[in-house]
Amino acid sequence: MNPVLEVINNRRSVRKYSERPISSAEKDQILQAALRSPTAGNMMLYSIIEIEDQELKNRLSVTCDNQPFIAKAPWVLLFLADYERWWDYYQHCEIKKYCEEKGLAYRLPQEGDMLLAACDALIAAQTAVLAAESLGIGSCYIGDILENYEIHRDLLSLPEYAIPITLLCFGYPVESEKPVRKTSRFELEFIVFKDRYKRLEQEDLSRMFQAQENLYAKEGWWLEGARNVGQNNFQNKFIADFSIEMNRSVKAMFNNLKK
Ligand SMILES: Cc1cc2nc3c(=O)[nH]c(=O)nc-3n(C[C@H](O)[C@H](O)[C@H](O)COP(=O)(O)O)c2cc1C
Repeated sequence: MNPVLEVINNRRSVRKYSERPISSAEKDQILQAALRSPTAGNMMLYSIIEIEDQELKNRLSVTCDNQPFIAKAPWVLLFLADYERWWDYYQHCEIKKYCEEKGLAYRLPQEGDMLLAACDALIAAQTAVLAAESLGIGSCYIGDILENYEIHRDLLSLPEYAIPITLLCFGYPVESEKPVRKTSRFELEFIVFKDRYKRLEQEDLSRMFQAQENLYAKEGWWLEGARNVGQNNFQNKFIADFSIEMNRSVKAMFNNLKK
């Protein structure tokens, strides 16, 4: 296997970090790699905030669904979908006047623009993950940064066209505690289709989840009364408080965009 594929295959989310610090040369390499990511229209519609202040890390470890390892991570990066920089530059370039002069349709950034910027932010984040992994540095995404929008906006001084997409924790793994992957991924046949979307039949769904059903039974991961992975997951994730909060928060983010 070539070294790039090896890095991709060996990566695991790392949530326990050793004392070994990440050097500024390593941080620079990871950030420079992230900046080489593909980006829509070559516009770099994202920003990265290094969370250095311990108080801020502590706070985020609470506001991101109470995950204490965030506070212990040696390096934490927040990836924002960011149209603000371009929007400010448009203003700097007197874009409204230009539109009037030329009879062009002026408009404000909208949901589609922010979704495109979110693609940019996530692609940059994943490049950082792989760059770190290639240096032996582990990482873990924190999706819960999508929650508590108003709190995060105020904590981080976010303008309206810069919204949190993901938080990444980095650190050298504790060698003895390198996570073992228990759960496999779904088989390719359920995920990759040809030419058109394929709704899975009942029988496909049963086959798709068979390995997980077996694992949950073996490990005793069931919630009380849950009879299969679907019931377990729906209760544990889909209707969990964090999911409800995430949906409220993301609506607030988009409602905050000027109409
Ligand atoms: C968008 C996204 C959000 C995630 N959020 C969290 C999180 O809040 N906390 C956490 O411990 N892991 C989080 N993860 C890590 C996943 O749990 C992990 O990737 C998954 O279980 C597969 O394990 P692996 O990364 O070791 O292959 C997140 C991953 C992604 C891609």
